[in-house]
Amino acid sequence: MSDQSICLIYFSGTEVTKTYAEVIKATLTDIECVVRLFDVTSYASRQKPLPVDDFNAFIFGFPVFSDFAPSVINTWLPTLKGKGKPCAQFFTYGARTSGYAHFHTLQLLETAGFQVLLSAEFLGRHTFNVAGWQILPDRPDQADFAIAKEYASLALERFSAQTPPVFNIQKPFGYNQTLAAREKQPKRSERGWTNPVRVTKACSMCRDCEAECPTQAFNADSGLSEPAECIDCMHCLYICPDEVIEIDKRMKDTYEGFKASWNLTETMMEAKQSKIIEESWQAAS
Ligand SMILES: Cc1cc2nc3c(=O)[nH]c(=O)nc-3n(C[C@H](O)[C@H](O)[C@H](O)COP(=O)(O)O)c2cc1C
Ligand code: SF4
Ligand code: SF4
Repeated sequence: MSDQSICLIYFSGTEVTKTYAEVIKATLTDIECVVRLFDVTSYASRQKPLPVDDFNAFIFGFPVFSDFAPSVINTWLPTLKGKGKPCAQFFTYGARTSGYAHFHTLQLLETAGFQVLLSAEFLGRHTFNVAGWQILPDRPDQADFAIAKEYASLALERFSAQTPPVFNIQKPFGYNQTLAAREKQPKRSERGWTNPVRVTKACSMCRDCEAECPTQAFNADSGLSEPAECIDCMHCLYICPDEVIEIDKRMKDTYEGFKASWNLTETMMEAKQSKIIEESWQAAS
């Protein structure tokens, strides 16, 4: 029986990150760790304090949204009190790039007082597949899960080590400039193609879209999302039991332009592999 009690915290709009979190939990549970999952996708879930004292170690899993973990996560992480406890981080991404997520999140976790020992990036279907894109529709697959299981075992090994190897991540090129530009970016004031809308007045009014939105952007009464707050995570579309929330149908047509602007092909994206970043010298792609 392992003496590790692990807290696995994740954000997941369309269940890619959630699926990896469950695979990691199952792997650790098989080697007799106690693992508790914390889904911090909804706004409400991030208002409760995290019971840091109840756990020996932490795993944080987030999707990459425009080269970083979701903005709400970047705001929330520095409010935690890590108390020097060990942690590992992982990211899921839709085959373009994990961008600055490894480096930036590591800085935030360290600022919060965690000791980051490991990172990883796992491939998954792109969020905008819900609107007709076709990026990695069949990922994660068994090969991705095999890497996630390896990551779970390595994380446990590091959490249990008396003196774990020092882990760090090199600052990526252009990081300071990108961060400065993001901070200056004004909030969106107009409704864009990625802002969800309920397309009928007739729905069962379960209010899940409102309760589970990460930013309190969706209004179940009006059926509209607030453009300034919406982070385009597609969680409301994904969870609506009546399947009546949509984004602009023309979003589908942006897929060819997306690939062209990044010089990406489906073959290139399919060839990408999930990977563990275990040594400080391993640059994230
Ligand atoms: C707003 C937004 C931005 C995204 N930005 C990126 C990106 O920069 N690079 C990438 O490869 N995938 C990107 N994706 C795709 C997601 O990272 C990917 O589909 C992820 O696995 C979704 O996980 P989830 O279902 O747990 O939310 C983005 C998705 C959204 C919604
Ligand atoms: S989640 Fe769907 S069914 Fe429930 S209130 Fe929102 S739009 Fe209606
Ligand atoms: S309204 Fe926007 S932020 Fe809220 S769940 Fe829907 S897509 Fe995500």
